Amino acid sequence: MRVLSGIQPTGNLHLGNYLGAIRNWVRMQDEMDSQSECFFFLADMHSITVAEEPAARIRHVRDMAAALIAAGIDPDRSVLFNQARVPAHAELCWLLNGTARIGWLNRMTQFKDKAGKNREGASVGLYVYPVLMAADVLLYQATHVPVGEDQKQHLELTRDVATKFNADFGVDLFTIPDPIIPKESARIMSLRDGTAKMSKSDPSDASRINLTDDDDAIMAKVRKAKSDQEMLPETAEGLAGRAEAANLVGIFATLSGESADAVCARFAGQGFGAFKPALGEVLVESLRPIRERFLALRGDDSALDAILQKGAARASAAAEPTLRAAYEAMGLMR
Ligand code: AMP
Ligand code: TRP
Repeated sequence: MRVLSGIQPTGNLHLGNYLGAIRNWVRMQDEMDSQSECFFFLADMHSITVAEEPAARIRHVRDMAAALIAAGIDPDRSVLFNQARVPAHAELCWLLNGTARIGWLNRMTQFKDKAGKNREGASVGLYVYPVLMAADVLLYQATHVPVGEDQKQHLELTRDVATKFNADFGVDLFTIPDPIIPKESARIMSLRDGTAKMSKSDPSDASRINLTDDDDAIMAKVRKAKSDQEMLPETAEGLAGRAEAANLVGIFATLSGESADAVCARFAGQGFGAFKPALGEVLVESLRPIRERFLALRGDDSALDAILQKGAARASAAAEPTLRAAYEAMGLMR
């Protein structure tokens, strides 16, 4: 089993990033047996499709790398790196541009969403984004690719590219990867509006729990979080139509590893005056060790860069035979 996944490096990391994305990778890594390998990378080459100051881009790569390690990704056990340090991604992407079809890319819903109305003004990079993603996966002969539902279409394109390349060049080079899509992935909502996703771009800092918030800040945000006047119900069914209440119970359940039903049963008949301090406590205890490791890692850029550099060297070595075989299959000398 070879697991591979990428994440866009973003800054201002919050509880939604941790519970919705980062924690899934840590679980995956921890469930691996000794025969399996995990490759996790920061998709900084994909991030050029978003306008950003160069200094911010570097900062965000380090932020996300530190958050992954702080949350439990072990850079000795898993191969952790940033894409830009492994030129094989860009090289294979170019080779696969000969295989991917314009018609396939035209069907990608993420391009349509992100390009919006001004499609003529979108970058070529945004259009070709799925081909780079195919290269990311195929370079390492990944068998399993954990992704969110929104990336399923890109994984299907990856499979199509692999199948067509193998057929066109009469080789059995690329492994056809399977997506792993969590059945119910945690979706954490804003503390100010239970119908909006918790987001780094919400102007209200009170809407989110940042990975860098200290214990007091977390407690204060939970205390001020929007809730309602009703009591907690016996079962999660009773949360229907109560977006804020459902979100707070959901956060508690996700962190404590219980079902929402179990959390409701425990607090049934009590109001948020009683529930919020308990939730604050769970949040503080879960996030404190991650925050402390994160801040320590973030205080030493060169140590963090050395970890990514080492990961990139391991990734390059793992990618090399496949990249070489792709050049050879196409009659290109290197
Ligand atoms: P972003 O910074 O929004 O690009 O998100 C980075 C990763 O965190 C993606 O995998 C998102 O799906 C995940 N994520 C961001 N916000 C949330 C949220 N409120 N709930 C769950 N997952 C989230
Ligand atoms: N596009 C993915 C996302 O936005 C990130 C990503 C880039 C990725 N390359 C990948 C995920 C390869 C899995 C495999 O979430």
